[in-house]
Amino acid sequence: MFTLAHLSDPHLAPLPAPRWSELIGKRVTGYINWQRNRRYIHDTAALAAIVADVKAQIPDHIAVTGDIANIALTAEFPRGRDWLESLGPAHDVTFVPGNHDIYVREAASFAARHWGAYMCDDDGVGGFPFVRRRGNIALIGLSTGVPTAPFLATGWLGTKQLAELAATLNKLKNENLFRIVLIHHPPISETGRNKRLLDASVLKRVIATHGADLLLHGHDHLHMINWLEGPNGTRVPTVGVHSASAAFGAGKDRAAYNLYRIDGARGAWKCELISRGLASSGQVAQQKRFMLIG
Ligand SMILES: [Fe+2]
Repeated sequence: MFTLAHLSDPHLAPLPAPRWSELIGKRVTGYINWQRNRRYIHDTAALAAIVADVKAQIPDHIAVTGDIANIALTAEFPRGRDWLESLGPAHDVTFVPGNHDIYVREAASFAARHWGAYMCDDDGVGGFPFVRRRGNIALIGLSTGVPTAPFLATGWLGTKQLAELAATLNKLKNENLFRIVLIHHPPISETGRNKRLLDASVLKRVIATHGADLLLHGHDHLHMINWLEGPNGTRVPTVGVHSASAAFGAGKDRAAYNLYRIDGARGAWKCELISRGLASSGQVAQQKRFMLIG
Protein backbone atom coordinates (compact mmCIF):
# COMPACT_ATOMS: atom_id res chain seq x y z
CA MET A 1 0.00 0.00 0.00
CA PHE A 2 1.35 3.40 -1.03
CA THR A 3 -0.23 6.59 0.33
CA LEU A 4 0.10 9.77 -1.70
CA ALA A 5 -1.13 13.13 -0.43
CA HIS A 6 -2.05 15.67 -3.10
CA LEU A 7 -2.37 19.35 -2.36
CA SER A 8 -2.33 22.31 -4.67
CA ASP A 9 -2.46 26.07 -5.07
CA PRO A 10 -1.26 27.17 -1.61
CA HIS A 11 -0.74 30.75 -2.91
CA LEU A 12 1.39 31.62 0.11
CA ALA A 13 0.17 34.65 2.03
CA PRO A 14 0.77 37.41 2.83
CA LEU A 15 2.13 38.80 -0.40
CA PRO A 16 5.61 40.26 0.28
CA ALA A 17 5.90 44.02 -0.28
CA PRO A 18 6.93 44.44 -3.92
CA ARG A 19 9.79 46.68 -4.98
CA TRP A 20 8.63 49.47 -7.29
CA SER A 21 10.84 48.04 -10.02
CA GLU A 22 8.91 44.76 -9.81
CA LEU A 23 5.49 46.34 -10.35
CA ILE A 24 5.52 46.47 -14.11
CA GLY A 25 3.38 44.71 -16.73
CA LYS A 26 1.25 41.81 -15.57
CA ARG A 27 2.39 42.08 -11.96
CA VAL A 28 0.47 45.38 -11.64
CA THR A 29 -2.91 43.79 -12.42
CA GLY A 30 -1.99 40.77 -10.30
CA TYR A 31 -1.05 43.01 -7.37
CA ILE A 32 -4.35 44.90 -7.57
CA ASN A 33 -6.25 41.60 -7.79
CA TRP A 34 -4.38 40.33 -4.71
CA GLN A 35 -5.18 43.47 -2.69
CA ARG A 36 -8.84 43.54 -3.72
CA ASN A 37 -9.71 39.83 -3.72
CA ARG A 38 -7.16 37.10 -3.31
CA ARG A 39 -5.73 38.17 0.05
CA TYR A 40 -9.16 37.49 1.56
CA ILE A 41 -9.17 33.96 0.10
CA HIS A 42 -5.71 32.54 0.82
CA ASP A 43 -5.24 32.13 4.54
CA THR A 44 -2.07 31.20 6.40
CA ALA A 45 -3.95 29.50 9.26
CA ALA A 46 -6.04 27.37 6.86
CA LEU A 47 -2.90 26.22 5.06
CA ALA A 48 -1.15 25.43 8.35
CA ALA A 49 -4.14 23.30 9.44
CA ILE A 50 -4.09 21.41 6.12
CA VAL A 51 -0.32 20.78 6.29
CA ALA A 52 -0.56 19.58 9.90
CA ASP A 53 -3.32 17.15 8.91
CA VAL A 54 -1.34 15.88 5.89
CA LYS A 55 1.59 15.11 8.18
CA ALA A 56 -0.66 13.40 10.74
CA GLN A 57 -1.74 10.97 8.00
CA ILE A 58 1.94 10.00 7.49
CA PRO A 59 1.77 9.71 3.67
CA ASP A 60 4.58 7.96 1.81
CA HIS A 61 4.83 10.94 -0.52
CA ILE A 62 3.35 14.42 -1.03
CA ALA A 63 2.57 15.92 -4.45
CA VAL A 64 2.01 19.66 -4.91
CA THR A 65 0.62 20.77 -8.28
CA GLY A 66 1.63 24.37 -8.49
CA ASP A 67 0.93 27.96 -7.51
CA ILE A 68 3.04 28.42 -4.42
CA ALA A 69 3.61 31.99 -5.61
CA ASN A 70 1.10 34.72 -6.45
CA ILE A 71 2.71 37.27 -8.77
CA ALA A 72 6.21 35.75 -8.82
CA LEU A 73 7.94 38.50 -6.82
CA THR A 74 11.59 37.73 -6.06
CA ALA A 75 10.80 37.39 -2.34
CA GLU A 76 8.12 34.74 -2.97
CA PHE A 77 10.68 32.13 -4.03
CA PRO A 78 12.93 31.71 -0.96
CA ARG A 79 9.74 31.72 1.14
CA GLY A 80 8.31 29.05 -1.17
CA ARG A 81 11.43 26.96 -0.63
CA ASP A 82 10.97 27.25 3.16
CA TRP A 83 7.37 26.09 2.78
CA LEU A 84 8.35 23.10 0.62
CA GLU A 85 10.99 22.17 3.20
CA SER A 86 8.32 22.38 5.89
CA LEU A 87 6.42 19.65 4.01
CA GLY A 88 9.43 17.37 3.88
CA PRO A 89 12.71 16.63 2.13
CA ALA A 90 12.78 16.71 -1.68
CA HIS A 91 12.91 12.91 -1.80
CA ASP A 92 9.43 12.78 -0.27
CA VAL A 93 7.80 15.82 -1.88
CA THR A 94 7.28 16.42 -5.61
CA PHE A 95 6.32 19.80 -7.04
CA VAL A 96 5.24 20.93 -10.50
CA PRO A 97 4.86 24.67 -11.26
CA GLY A 98 1.66 26.58 -12.01
CA ASN A 99 0.94 29.76 -13.92
CA HIS A 100 1.47 31.94 -10.83
CA ASP A 101 4.98 30.47 -10.37
CA ILE A 102 5.97 31.34 -13.97
CA TYR A 103 3.92 34.55 -13.96
CA VAL A 104 6.14 36.89 -15.97
CA ARG A 105 9.09 36.40 -18.30
CA GLU A 106 11.52 38.00 -15.82
CA ALA A 107 10.64 35.30 -13.23
CA ALA A 108 10.54 32.31 -15.59
CA SER A 109 13.72 30.78 -14.14
CA PHE A 110 13.01 31.49 -10.45
CA ALA A 111 11.02 28.30 -9.75
CA ALA A 112 13.75 26.01 -11.10
CA ARG A 113 16.45 27.97 -9.29
CA HIS A 114 14.80 27.90 -5.86
CA TRP A 115 12.64 24.78 -5.98
CA GLY A 116 14.60 22.63 -8.42
CA ALA A 117 15.28 19.87 -5.87
CA TYR A 118 11.51 19.26 -5.66
CA MET A 119 10.97 19.23 -9.44
CA CYS A 120 13.57 16.85 -10.82
CA ASP A 121 14.04 13.16 -11.51
CA ASP A 122 15.68 10.60 -9.21
CA ASP A 123 19.13 11.61 -10.46
CA GLY A 124 18.49 15.27 -9.67
CA VAL A 125 18.03 16.21 -13.34
CA GLY A 126 15.47 18.95 -13.98
CA GLY A 127 13.29 19.62 -17.01
CA PHE A 128 9.86 18.31 -17.96
CA PRO A 129 8.62 15.69 -17.99
CA PHE A 130 10.60 14.25 -15.09
CA VAL A 131 9.99 10.85 -13.51
CA ARG A 132 10.34 9.74 -9.90
CA ARG A 133 9.93 6.08 -8.98
CA ARG A 134 8.71 5.16 -5.50
CA GLY A 135 8.03 1.43 -5.10
CA ASN A 136 5.58 0.46 -7.84
CA ILE A 137 4.53 4.08 -8.32
CA ALA A 138 5.87 6.42 -11.00
CA LEU A 139 5.31 10.16 -10.59
CA ILE A 140 5.52 12.07 -13.87
CA GLY A 141 5.92 15.83 -13.49
CA LEU A 142 4.79 18.23 -16.22
CA SER A 143 5.00 21.99 -16.51
CA THR A 144 2.16 24.03 -18.01
CA GLY A 145 3.42 27.34 -16.60
CA VAL A 146 4.25 29.93 -19.23
CA PRO A 147 4.30 33.73 -18.95
CA THR A 148 1.06 35.15 -20.35
CA ALA A 149 -0.51 38.55 -20.95
CA PRO A 150 -2.49 40.34 -18.20
CA PHE A 151 -5.87 38.70 -17.41
CA LEU A 152 -4.77 35.39 -18.95
CA ALA A 153 -4.02 32.27 -16.87
CA THR A 154 -3.65 29.82 -19.73
CA GLY A 155 -1.21 26.90 -19.74
CA TRP A 156 0.89 25.30 -22.43
CA LEU A 157 2.79 22.01 -22.58
CA GLY A 158 4.33 22.32 -26.03
CA THR A 159 5.25 19.77 -28.68
CA LYS A 160 8.58 18.71 -27.15
CA GLN A 161 7.19 18.04 -23.67
CA LEU A 162 4.19 16.17 -25.09
CA ALA A 163 6.40 13.98 -27.30
CA GLU A 164 8.62 13.14 -24.33
CA LEU A 165 5.53 12.45 -22.21
CA ALA A 166 4.31 9.92 -24.80
CA ALA A 167 7.67 8.10 -24.75
CA THR A 168 7.80 8.23 -20.94
CA LEU A 169 4.30 6.80 -20.47
CA ASN A 170 5.08 4.02 -22.88
CA LYS A 171 8.33 3.12 -21.13
CA LEU A 172 6.74 3.13 -17.66
CA LYS A 173 3.87 0.93 -18.84
CA ASN A 174 6.42 -1.72 -19.72
CA GLU A 175 7.82 -1.42 -16.17
CA ASN A 176 4.33 -2.22 -14.78
CA LEU A 177 4.28 0.91 -12.65
CA PHE A 178 1.19 2.84 -11.51
CA ARG A 179 1.65 6.01 -13.55
CA ILE A 180 0.55 9.25 -11.89
CA VAL A 181 0.74 12.40 -14.02
CA LEU A 182 1.16 15.64 -12.05
CA ILE A 183 0.07 18.81 -13.86
CA HIS A 184 -1.18 22.23 -12.82
CA HIS A 185 -3.83 22.95 -15.49
CA PRO A 186 -6.65 20.41 -15.87
CA PRO A 187 -7.13 18.72 -19.25
CA ILE A 188 -10.91 19.10 -18.79
CA SER A 189 -12.32 22.29 -17.30
CA GLU A 190 -15.34 24.55 -17.53
CA THR A 191 -13.70 27.67 -16.15
CA GLY A 192 -13.37 29.51 -19.43
CA ARG A 193 -11.00 30.18 -22.27
CA ASN A 194 -8.71 32.58 -20.42
CA LYS A 195 -7.72 29.91 -17.86
CA ARG A 196 -7.52 26.75 -19.95
CA LEU A 197 -4.70 24.46 -21.02
CA LEU A 198 -4.28 25.49 -24.65
CA ASP A 199 -2.96 22.14 -25.91
CA ALA A 200 -5.24 19.96 -23.79
CA SER A 201 -6.49 18.17 -26.92
CA VAL A 202 -2.97 16.90 -27.65
CA LEU A 203 -2.50 15.79 -24.03
CA LYS A 204 -5.77 13.84 -24.28
CA ARG A 205 -4.55 12.14 -27.45
CA VAL A 206 -1.28 11.16 -25.75
CA ILE A 207 -3.21 9.67 -22.81
CA ALA A 208 -5.62 7.91 -25.18
CA THR A 209 -2.70 6.32 -27.01
CA HIS A 210 -0.23 5.55 -24.22
CA GLY A 211 -2.43 5.48 -21.11
CA ALA A 212 -1.82 6.59 -17.53
CA ASP A 213 -3.37 5.42 -14.27
CA LEU A 214 -4.16 8.74 -12.60
CA LEU A 215 -3.81 12.42 -13.42
CA LEU A 216 -3.74 14.99 -10.60
CA HIS A 217 -4.15 18.72 -11.11
CA GLY A 218 -4.92 22.03 -9.40
CA HIS A 219 -5.59 25.47 -10.98
CA ASP A 220 -9.41 25.59 -10.80
CA HIS A 221 -9.46 25.47 -6.95
CA LEU A 222 -12.35 22.99 -7.14
CA HIS A 223 -13.01 19.36 -6.32
CA MET A 224 -13.21 17.83 -9.79
CA ILE A 225 -13.26 14.30 -11.14
CA ASN A 226 -13.29 13.70 -14.87
CA TRP A 227 -12.40 10.67 -16.95
CA LEU A 228 -10.11 10.67 -19.97
CA GLU A 229 -10.17 8.07 -22.67
CA GLY A 230 -7.30 5.58 -22.33
CA PRO A 231 -6.14 2.82 -24.70
CA ASN A 232 -8.36 -0.20 -25.44
CA GLY A 233 -11.54 1.19 -23.87
CA THR A 234 -9.90 2.04 -20.52
CA ARG A 235 -10.62 5.27 -18.67
CA VAL A 236 -8.13 7.43 -16.80
CA PRO A 237 -9.34 9.45 -13.79
CA THR A 238 -8.27 13.09 -13.66
CA VAL A 239 -8.79 14.63 -10.23
CA GLY A 240 -8.53 18.24 -9.10
CA VAL A 241 -8.41 19.59 -5.57
CA HIS A 242 -9.25 22.86 -3.82
CA SER A 243 -6.63 25.40 -2.97
CA ALA A 244 -4.87 24.21 0.19
CA SER A 245 -5.18 27.70 1.69
CA ALA A 246 -8.78 28.72 0.83
CA ALA A 247 -10.19 30.38 3.94
CA PHE A 248 -13.33 29.11 5.58
CA GLY A 249 -15.37 32.16 4.61
CA ALA A 250 -14.18 32.10 1.01
CA GLY A 251 -17.06 29.96 -0.25
CA LYS A 252 -17.90 26.30 -0.39
CA ASP A 253 -14.51 25.34 -1.81
CA ARG A 254 -12.49 25.94 1.33
CA ALA A 255 -9.06 24.44 1.98
CA ALA A 256 -8.74 20.71 1.32
CA TYR A 257 -6.44 18.01 0.06
CA ASN A 258 -6.74 14.42 -1.20
CA LEU A 259 -5.15 11.18 -0.06
CA TYR A 260 -4.72 8.24 -2.45
CA ARG A 261 -4.16 4.74 -1.12
CA ILE A 262 -2.78 2.68 -3.98
CA ASP A 263 -2.35 -1.06 -4.01
CA GLY A 264 -2.25 -3.96 -6.47
CA ALA A 265 -0.44 -4.54 -9.73
CA ARG A 266 -0.85 -3.88 -13.46
CA GLY A 267 -4.30 -5.02 -14.56
CA ALA A 268 -5.59 -5.10 -10.99
CA TRP A 269 -4.78 -1.73 -9.44
CA LYS A 270 -6.82 -0.46 -6.52
CA CYS A 271 -6.88 3.22 -5.65
CA GLU A 272 -8.97 4.69 -2.86
CA LEU A 273 -9.59 8.45 -2.76
CA ILE A 274 -10.01 10.18 0.60
CA SER A 275 -10.76 13.91 0.64
CA ARG A 276 -10.00 15.82 3.80
CA GLY A 277 -10.73 19.51 4.31
CA LEU A 278 -11.48 22.37 6.62
CA ALA A 279 -14.81 21.86 8.42
CA SER A 280 -16.95 24.59 9.95
CA SER A 281 -15.39 23.74 13.31
CA GLY A 282 -12.04 24.92 11.94
CA GLN A 283 -10.71 21.35 12.18
CA VAL A 284 -9.65 19.30 9.18
CA ALA A 285 -11.93 16.30 8.71
CA GLN A 286 -12.70 13.59 6.18
CA GLN A 287 -15.20 14.76 3.54
CA LYS A 288 -15.39 11.84 1.09
CA ARG A 289 -13.98 8.35 0.82
CA PHE A 290 -14.51 5.95 -2.10
CA MET A 291 -12.77 3.57 -4.45
CA LEU A 292 -11.63 5.50 -7.50
CA ILE A 293 -10.10 2.47 -9.21
CA GLY A 294 -10.78 -1.21 -8.53
FE1 LIG B 1 -4.03 28.76 -8.32
